[in-house]
Amino acid sequence: GHHVSSQRIRFQRRNRPCRYDIDRFAPSFLSIFESLVPSQDEIAKQKQLLTSLSRIINKEWPNSKLYLYGSCANSFGFSNSDIDLCLSIDDKEMSKVDIILKLADILHAGNLQNIQPLTRARVPIVKLMDPETGLSCDICVNNLLAVINTKLLRDYAQIDIRLRQLAFIVKHWAKSRRVNEAYQGTLSSYAYVIMCIHLLQLRRILPCLQEMEATYFVTVDESNCAYFDQVDKLNNYGAHSRDTVSRLLWAFFHYWAYEHDYTRDVISIRTGRIISKERKDWTRRVGNDRHLICIEDPFETSHDLGRVVDKFTIKILREEFERAANILQFDPNPSVTLFEPY
Ligand code: CTP
Ligand code: MG
Repeated sequence: GHHVSSQRIRFQRRNRPCRYDIDRFAPSFLSIFESLVPSQDEIAKQKQLLTSLSRIINKEWPNSKLYLYGSCANSFGFSNSDIDLCLSIDDKEMSKVDIILKLADILHAGNLQNIQPLTRARVPIVKLMDPETGLSCDICVNNLLAVINTKLLRDYAQIDIRLRQLAFIVKHWAKSRRVNEAYQGTLSSYAYVIMCIHLLQLRRILPCLQEMEATYFVTVDESNCAYFDQVDKLNNYGAHSRDTVSRLLWAFFHYWAYEHDYTRDVISIRTGRIISKERKDWTRRVGNDRHLICIEDPFETSHDLGRVVDKFTIKILREEFERAANILQFDPNPSVTLFEPY
């Protein structure tokens, strides 16, 4: 039947060698990467916003601290993306919602615009716009794991430039093909970056920082976060590999289209390996977590970043992986076709 033949096709394609002329496309992918990177001017504006907001908030809450996290701080942000901020505050008296409401008042007094406290969201936030820089941002409260995983991603990005090149192209593909919408059952940008790190770990272009002797330690909400963060000592790590960004893109999509074992495997950048669903007890649906594509969070190891994917969106995702793999294999113009809007 249909199932058997598609299994056979997948099996045949698994060992398919990469097209001989794949490196020819590296320059055009690199220029797409360059066009997406934010300018120095934009990065300076983000820092300026962090400084001015910190000043306003610290007047009211001297012991609080404001952090940048997400794409504007993990080095995987495109230009013109929104700013994610996290307020760390130790106040036993106030609930998160109270803090959000008071924060909104403080920001009003500080002359910021379009202030919207969203207290009923899964992660409560305040949205605002800063008239001075023109930047919009979201502020959440006490989500320190996000601040730490932002640092982990930024540290990985410093080891080998090919991680940023690959992840920018993958994110750009995912946005063009509308498979970068976690609230609609596809994957977050965070998940795609983790998938890229994992691929480069398997190819020994990146090490596994959490398996090395720790130089950085923090404990947040019972999670011990420890890893080797002196990444300036590792900037030759991947030098043995001459893989270009186009070859890595081919490998990424080929892996997720034809090689990944969706029934058994979990990818884990914490260990730098593939681990089994069995071992994590992720073999069946638990509550709303379906575990149809398993991507372990590096610190919250009980979190499957693929948990939002359901039986409809897994099909969409896998078809998109196959489409992308086939474009990189056969298309005369992959750096155009790959991003054709869905
Ligand atoms: N995050 C997380 N767990 C998730 C999703 C996100 O901890 N399941 C945190 C991460 O710190 C991530 C940040 O939230 O860096 C923002 O997530 P996301 O919007 O997916 O990524 P961005 O890097 O901001 O990407 P984009 O450019 O698409 O905004
Ligand atoms: Mg974001």
